[in-house]
Amino acid sequence: MKDFSTFAPLDGATLDGAIAKALEINRDSLKDYTDKFKYSHSVDGVYPQSENVEWTTGFWTGELWLSWELSHEEAFREAALRQTDSFAERIEKRIDVEHHDMGFLYSPSCVAAYKLTGSEVGRKAALEAADNLVSRFQEKGQFIQAWGRLGDVKEYRLIIDCLLNIPLLFWASRETGDGRYEDVARRHLDTAISLVLRSDDSTFHTYFFDPETGRPTHGVTAQGNRDGSAWSRGQAWGVYGTALAWRYTHEERTREVFSRCLDFFLDHLPGDIIPYWDFDFSNPSTEPRDSSALAIVICGMLEASRSMPGMEGLEDVARRLMKVLIDKCAVMPGGSCNGLLAHATYARKSQWNTCRNRGVDECNIWGDYYYLEALRRLKGEWDPYW
Ligand code: GLY
Repeated sequence: MKDFSTFAPLDGATLDGAIAKALEINRDSLKDYTDKFKYSHSVDGVYPQSENVEWTTGFWTGELWLSWELSHEEAFREAALRQTDSFAERIEKRIDVEHHDMGFLYSPSCVAAYKLTGSEVGRKAALEAADNLVSRFQEKGQFIQAWGRLGDVKEYRLIIDCLLNIPLLFWASRETGDGRYEDVARRHLDTAISLVLRSDDSTFHTYFFDPETGRPTHGVTAQGNRDGSAWSRGQAWGVYGTALAWRYTHEERTREVFSRCLDFFLDHLPGDIIPYWDFDFSNPSTEPRDSSALAIVICGMLEASRSMPGMEGLEDVARRLMKVLIDKCAVMPGGSCNGLLAHATYARKSQWNTCRNRGVDECNIWGDYYYLEALRRLKGEWDPYW
């Protein structure tokens, strides 16, 4: 693994200062984003208000729970519980839930509500979301179909991001004693990690199957620069997703994939650490960065350092990377920006992908969430919402 010892480790004063700044921004946000949610990304530094739609609203509720854990201020808890009710209504009425992102939505909102307050509303909604996720499992191919109408040949694929959705299934089995959820999670995990990792340890974003036979056919990107490149955030989902899977499975193969995904990510960081949105780009480049990918990876390293034997040393590296992330990307309170982590990119158009430019060099809500989760983890023991 690359040597980061020339970068200063995070000290207690910097950590506490970063937490205080994040809490100040989130405290100010409560008035506008309690009955509404923060949108997926900021526009000129400010989050538009959003209804509870898309795959991203759970991150804002998760930030409220983290803020409550860090401050014990009742206002955060009350707002998070109000939003838990919104998630219960969303799954009940099936509002924008015809996709696989049940974990991104329901782990940091409803599982957190249940773990932190014993909320039965949160528990019930999270279990219904887990049922919905299980319903997207395809026997032919042994994977959870990410997007689109089930069985549609144009959407018959898995995506690496789903590694962050399956912890909801592991949790659901432990919570209910019903092994059906975990069985689907394990089968999807096996399929995904056997296909997305390339021989150079970079990853495919998505992988297609033949719906007739279930045979895996080819890897394709949706948000990376090109099919054969390593989309930074996809690689980050691989790192954190396998670290979380290890917690539940303790399977050696998962640990090996974690290690390989992580080494590729760290080895390909630019000299100034904040990753470009795709590892096709390195210094010097005018392409935008994606700080959210680094925040996700730091969470994965902190998770592994405390749960995977032999990975204890990762905490020291994570602390050095976190110091860079704070110094270069943490938003200062009191300005016009109401996000926490600058220099993130949601989607960048390239000549080979299908994206439009969206949230380029802005804050995005998962970048803010994972940044705050990393700060929370660095304050001491933490029971993950995942
Ligand atoms: N899970 C979608 C994304 O990372 O943009």
